[in-house]
Amino acid sequence: MTHVIYNTATTLSGYIADADNSLDWLFVVDQPEDNSFGEFLEGIGALVMGATTYEWVYAHEGLGEHPEKWHASYADRPTFVFTTRDLPVPDGLNITLVRGPVDDHFGDVAAAAGTGSVWVVGGGDLAGQFYDAGRLNEIRLSIAPVTLESGAPVLPRRIEADALHLTSAHAEGQFVEAHYEVRYPRL
Ligand SMILES: NC(=O)c1ccc[n+]([C@@H]2O[C@H](COP(=O)([O-])OP(=O)(O)OC[C@H]3O[C@@H](n4cnc5c(N)ncnc54)[C@H](OP(=O)(O)O)[C@@H]3O)[C@@H](O)[C@H]2O)c1
Repeated sequence: MTHVIYNTATTLSGYIADADNSLDWLFVVDQPEDNSFGEFLEGIGALVMGATTYEWVYAHEGLGEHPEKWHASYADRPTFVFTTRDLPVPDGLNITLVRGPVDDHFGDVAAAAGTGSVWVVGGGDLAGQFYDAGRLNEIRLSIAPVTLESGAPVLPRRIEADALHLTSAHAEGQFVEAHYEVRYPRL
């Protein structure tokens, strides 16, 4: 069965971006050289993300002029962008635009991932849609020593302790890496 992981950086106050969809607060936190992200990415077969996240990457990396920058971050892993719009996709990138319920696309996502896991990059509501569909298996948070008063929520669902089981927690530089297994007690 395909393993689906929502892996994101978040503030202490539970936001993955500020109210202007900026990550400036994140990039000023010292990133340790020996972090676990490379190992995480090795196990990923396919990515999914929402439109706002994709548009952020597109603008931040200047993908219109430099599509090769996508490969530097994600290699050629198949990526599914959930959107109701006809967003630009540079030639040569393995990106598919999809819309509608998670279950309408999960078969394609799982097939694209092969033996690897699926990385739900964000945002929080898309991760929530995977949870609602019973498809979210794990949440990995890199908790930054930052608070914000508002922004994009890390996971705007009510999920209580019977459904989330802490499997590991450790420090990586200034970040706390917290991993949770998602259980579905009501399914
Ligand atoms: N801290 C981190 O590590 C991290 C990680 C990921 C993202 N981020 C940031 O966090 C913010 C996330 O933004 P966000 O919460 O607004 O979420 P998002 O998931 O990136 O984008 C939400 C949008 O995706 C589209 N969408 C979502 N589900 C859909 C569905 N089932 N079918 C069709 N379209 C669907 C809709 O846009 P349309 O209808 O307009 O297409 C929706 O408004 C961004 O600024 C991103 O850069 C931070």
